[in-house]
Amino acid sequence: MSAQRACGLSELEQDTPLRVELDGVPMAVVLDSAGEVHAIGDTCTHGEISLSEGFVEGDTLECWAHGSAFSLRTGIPQNLPAYEPVPVYVVDIDGDDVLIDPTVTKEV
Ligand code: FES
Repeated sequence: MSAQRACGLSELEQDTPLRVELDGVPMAVVLDSAGEVHAIGDTCTHGEISLSEGFVEGDTLECWAHGSAFSLRTGIPQNLPAYEPVPVYVVDIDGDDVLIDPTVTKEV
């Protein structure tokens, strides 16, 4: 498996998560305020909530349901009630293409 186009860079609004699904793997893609693009698993590990419906705070994405904020860099929740991390995917940018391989997660 190799990286696939997840979306266009120009489609991303700063600090506004975009939900994408690649090969059935849901992820939240975020352009942070530093201009860096992140992709983390979209399903909160506390419940079946889509993290892309949550809020970007600095370098975290906060679940709207109970407030766990997941690091966009490591996937680790910074606060309870979630305690298990979400996967973090490697993102490559090629021109306007945001490329992600849904089978490859970052080692953190
Ligand atoms: S469902 Fe996400 S913190 Fe509870």
